[in-house]
Amino acid sequence: MSLDTSSSIVVPQERVYHSIPGASYCLPADEEEALRLARQYLLLKKFFGGDISFAPASLSDGDEVLDSGCGSGLWLVDFAHSFGNKVTFTGIDISSKLFPAGKIPDNIHFEQASVLSLPEHWAARYSLLNQRFLLAALKVEEWRTAIAEMYRVLKPGGWVQLMESSFGIRSDKKCYRIINKLFNSLGLLVENRWERLQEMLKEVGFVDVHVRENVIRLEEWSEEEKEYGRGVYLASFKAVKDGVVRQGGLGEISSPSDFDELFQQTQQDETVGAVGGIDTRTAVIFARKPVN
Ligand SMILES: C[S@@+](CC[C@H](N)C(=O)[O-])C[C@H]1O[C@@H](n2cnc3c(N)ncnc32)[C@H](O)[C@@H]1O
Repeated sequence: MSLDTSSSIVVPQERVYHSIPGASYCLPADEEEALRLARQYLLLKKFFGGDISFAPASLSDGDEVLDSGCGSGLWLVDFAHSFGNKVTFTGIDISSKLFPAGKIPDNIHFEQASVLSLPEHWAARYSLLNQRFLLAALKVEEWRTAIAEMYRVLKPGGWVQLMESSFGIRSDKKCYRIINKLFNSLGLLVENRWERLQEMLKEVGFVDVHVRENVIRLEEWSEEEKEYGRGVYLASFKAVKDGVVRQGGLGEISSPSDFDELFQQTQQDETVGAVGGIDTRTAVIFARKPVN
């Protein structure tokens, strides 16, 4: 069972996407996505006991922080609150569609750029680089390029921290399998995701590579919080719909309305996303650029 992949395929236009030629990223860039990212952000903060910074970078006046693939900039703005206005925070994203529209402090900036080719003049500039959830954006080889760019723009002694979840890895149910097939068909990093990221960091020269995983103590969660977590998972599932349709249904659905039906069934299945929403495992890998 598969969709017609010829040019006659009708891709529903319910959602808004970035329109950057050549970019693999298949998730939307609209208000619904901004809301999903905000809920995901709060959930992740809870997963990690309120921590949003993991690398032991100590920042002083004049230092600069980069959030790459920042989306709506939630991490950057939240993190910036802990510092005075003499530390500068820059968020970059391939699309400016989700950048915050309201007034933000003068030491926080947003720029449109790709993690695959950061501006030349940023060499050895940043003390800390944060990147979260580019798993749906970068093909395996693009990860190597992005990590080499991270190394280039960090100061000697600077830290990188990458947060990625197991979204797209599981394949034991249709609703998981369809995302796994989508990510594989797009050439994204699926198998051994965290291990390969650690290897890539070491290959470009990073040292002190550490991993911190989230710990979910479900017994501490109220029913309302569990439902919230499930809601985040379901919103992420819904966000891949057009990607699946564009890939011809991946042998799992034969029309956009099939996906809607699968979504409804998934909503009824209380085991899906029950353990902590976006998936069960999220890890932060952090590493340091050597001083010499
Ligand atoms: C799932 S969102 C995560 C946003 C944010 N980091 C967060 O944790 O809320 C992934 C973001 O990566 C951006 N992105 C995709 N490909 C990119 C690229 N090549 N360079 C920069 N940003 C990219 C997307 O536009 C999107 O905003």
